[in-house]
Amino acid sequence: MPLSRRLLFRWELPEDFVVTPWDVKGQVDYDRLVTQFGTQRLTPDLLEQIRKIAGELHPMLRRGVFYSHRDLDWILREYGKGNRFALYTGRGPSSGIHIGHMLPWFFAKWLQEKFRAALYFQITDDEKFLFKDFDKLEEATKVGYDNILDIIAMGFDPKLTRIFLDTEYIRHLYPIAVEVAKRITFSTTQAVFGFENSNNIGEIFYTSIQAAPAFLPTAEAGHEVPILIPCGIDQDPHFRIARDVAPKLGYPKPALIHNKLLPSLLGPTGKMSASIPESSIFTTDTEAQAQKKIMNAFTGGRATVEEQRRLGANPYICSIFAQYNYIFEPDDRHLAEVERTCKNGERLCGDCKTELWGKVRTWLKAHHAAREKAKDRIDQFMLHD
Ligand code: TRP
Repeated sequence: MPLSRRLLFRWELPEDFVVTPWDVKGQVDYDRLVTQFGTQRLTPDLLEQIRKIAGELHPMLRRGVFYSHRDLDWILREYGKGNRFALYTGRGPSSGIHIGHMLPWFFAKWLQEKFRAALYFQITDDEKFLFKDFDKLEEATKVGYDNILDIIAMGFDPKLTRIFLDTEYIRHLYPIAVEVAKRITFSTTQAVFGFENSNNIGEIFYTSIQAAPAFLPTAEAGHEVPILIPCGIDQDPHFRIARDVAPKLGYPKPALIHNKLLPSLLGPTGKMSASIPESSIFTTDTEAQAQKKIMNAFTGGRATVEEQRRLGANPYICSIFAQYNYIFEPDDRHLAEVERTCKNGERLCGDCKTELWGKVRTWLKAHHAAREKAKDRIDQFMLHD
């Protein structure tokens, strides 16, 4: 299908929310995004196929946190034929890591274990420099190395995981990036990303750098390697372009599996943001900082205890419930119990906050320790030119 028929033009986005790779505003309607972006919903049939292979379903699949895809059915079919896929994801190193950033990483780790898949992890220091987060390129590279500690601390298999910074792996990426760039017009990037005359030319070129790792495994192997990209749905526009270009270059189209963005601790509008520290738990938060964020978080509670006991509260707008649902409660039965007792007024917000903090604390402690150890393990994971 030609690009012009498939793409959502930026001016067609409804005004109540905006999702682009660099900007998420308002209360996102994830159902509408599927239609607008032209992706597919994960179906019960696909989930069943995954369960058969993996022996279980990851909680984020069961609960619809990962909810949309492109060509996942093809990935599973190829896998069934013995054609293993590789995973690709990435990080734009603009700041420290918060738990919202980690959703695709938790999931990629699970996929790596269940499918024994190689993982390519791109760190886009160039992107974060070009898009004005930093005055100096070295600053972005430095944050990139700091972020890599969090990635390694996730527990990826060093034999199957390759991490690279764009500025340090560019000789491998560039030949593919120029092939891609030649097939993308300025007007396409304008339509997809909303670029204008005032955007710098690095910003306009950048999407070809993000496309490159999707084709690198095939280029290196000399035969088709299917690629699956777990990522936030906000990153989809890059890969929509990459998928359009792929057949022209003789590469398989990368498949995608998309997650919803973790809601901010401050309330249901907007995703977690590094510029608002209270909006999320960061991996380098002290226990006291993290605890305070949870205790002050936005909930679906009532104005008074009396009212809440009588009328119940609303878990569906509650940022604490979202943390349980997305990450910190693997047990579906307990999650359902939290939901029920919240709605009927048996539970108060303080109960949930204290309970969640217990879970977050255990996780944070373990992550801090793994992050320390990661400092000596960087070489096991990195690719350089
Ligand atoms: N652009 C992404 C960001 O800002 C980083 C990234 C690069 C990425 N390659 C990716 C994200 C592949 C998901 C999948 O964070």
